[in-house]
Amino acid sequence: MKRLKIFKGLLLFWTAFIGVGAFVGGICMLIKPDGSLLKMEAMLPYFQVLPFADVLFQNYIFPGIALIIVNGISNVVAFLLILRNKRIGYALGTIFGFTLMLWIIIQFIIFPLNVLDIAYFTFGVLQLICGYVALVSYNQVNFKFDEKDYKNINNHSKTLVVYFSRMKFTKRIAYVKADKESADILEIKTKERTEGTLGFWWCGRFGMHKWPMELLPIDVDLNKYDKVILVTPIWVFKMCGPMREFVIKNKEILENKKVEIVFNHFNPWLPKGAVKEVKKYITITNIESKTTWLGHTFKLDK
Ligand SMILES: Cc1cc2nc3c(=O)[nH]c(=O)nc-3n(C[C@H](O)[C@H](O)[C@H](O)COP(=O)(O)O)c2cc1C
Repeated sequence: MKRLKIFKGLLLFWTAFIGVGAFVGGICMLIKPDGSLLKMEAMLPYFQVLPFADVLFQNYIFPGIALIIVNGISNVVAFLLILRNKRIGYALGTIFGFTLMLWIIIQFIIFPLNVLDIAYFTFGVLQLICGYVALVSYNQVNFKFDEKDYKNINNHSKTLVVYFSRMKFTKRIAYVKADKESADILEIKTKERTEGTLGFWWCGRFGMHKWPMELLPIDVDLNKYDKVILVTPIWVFKMCGPMREFVIKNKEILENKKVEIVFNHFNPWLPKGAVKEVKKYITITNIESKTTWLGHTFKLDK
């Protein structure tokens, strides 16, 4: 995935840059604890407002050690883990962007405003953003889901699970549900672009306007079923465009069946407007809501 490659590269840069910089700065402080190597002698009085300053901040030994541990070792470890493509490396790289921001906030409080602090705070923000995007992309690429693990599906059931999914997160929820209910399963697909980063923005456009998204033909006879379970991701606080199209197009048929719905979303709550909208078209007998973060769906039974 191109996005992962780009943001992995950027995160490697930030962790290396901040990590090595912190090591160099910290070692200079330890070599010359009066701060003369970094021309920071005049800054020492500003530290005196900090707790335990009479013990910790009479020279640069403690700040040097703290810098090496908090921003140096941490970022170098994250760098090496990312290089080995470990998920924890991406998570740590993101967290250490935040750590740097906290570090600089302390400097904002104790030092007069200066360019270097503003620059490093910005670096922390950029590291946090690059880390988060890389972590999300890593989880998307490495998301494991195998349809074959669900054996109890498509056995001429009277129940049908209908789902739409871009990144397979909702797909897994639909398969778990269908497996549990011994149901048939139907994936609805659309002509519109939904894949990748561009697809995300395109779907967002449909979400913002609450537009239905035109579907590819469906070769399943809905009349065969007594119960239909709709499984849909939330797009901009409502059901996704393809599911909206499916519900609107089939509302007469669905009205004669027991219909349940499962929403999947990122926010830890289900937007009330999403429920209100489906209820406008059809009668729903059961509503469930799942939260998926970084590929992990909370309270998913399987
Ligand atoms: C265009 C778009 C808009 C979204 N809007 C919301 C939202 O308003 N609230 C929310 O909690 N999640 C939102 N999400 C996140 C998805 O609901 C969530 O990532 C879900 O797990 C995606 O499932 P899928 O990968 O199976 O399509 C949105 C996702 C997309 C693509």
